[in-house]
Amino acid sequence: AADPVKLMKQEVGRAAANLIQSNSIVGLGTGSTTAYAIQFIGERLKSGEIKDIVGVPTSFQAEVLSKQYGIPLTTLDAIDHIDIAIDGADEVDPQKNLIKGGGAAHTREKVVDYLANQFIVVIDSGKLVDKLGSVFAVPVEVIPMAVTPVMNAIAKLGGKPELRMGVKKAGPVVTDQGNLVVDVKFDDIPDPVNLEKTLNNIPGVLENGIFVNCADKVLIGEVKDGKPVVQ
Ligand code: A5P
Repeated sequence: AADPVKLMKQEVGRAAANLIQSNSIVGLGTGSTTAYAIQFIGERLKSGEIKDIVGVPTSFQAEVLSKQYGIPLTTLDAIDHIDIAIDGADEVDPQKNLIKGGGAAHTREKVVDYLANQFIVVIDSGKLVDKLGSVFAVPVEVIPMAVTPVMNAIAKLGGKPELRMGVKKAGPVVTDQGNLVVDVKFDDIPDPVNLEKTLNNIPGVLENGIFVNCADKVLIGEVKDGKPVVQ
């Protein structure tokens, strides 16, 4: 039988791709859910259902997939706005605050997603939480020479920092920018707005994965009576 989480991601990716209109500049997110959106945008372009789309990728992964599915790409230097961005998330709270960075791409994602006139988040229902940080650690991108003082500063704030290690790689994960990722578990995040700023104020931190007040819409994939639906 098909994996229900995969089916939810596929449906929600398709729903997001269907929001894209001709003549638009589209921020293309990172992760396994957005990968389906990229695939379906490419298919809509190929069939002629939409035309004149240009994408801004948020990662090496998004760039490779967009090329594979025939989506023309541009850079932020060549455009003056982004109409719509589609991106995944690792946790979403009832205020539409997010934790992102499970794929170590949150820095470029934040740049692109915040610039977009409309930011659409695509998740399966397993990502919904009552309180941000309940399950997921907050990913923090750190320049390599600063990793020890940054981890010490984070521990003083009450977080449990862990350097992210590669899965099919010896040594730590290296981001698309050549930096490291420290995953920080907090027992409680009472004030995500403040924590985002506090983490970014530690010298050597490039960006963290807390996204507040930026998501316009959250598309949630669910399985109902064995069938994937989007809410
Ligand atoms: C990438 O760094 C992340 O922010 C992803 O957008 C996030 O981890 C969601 O990925 P999945 O759709 O694969 O769960």
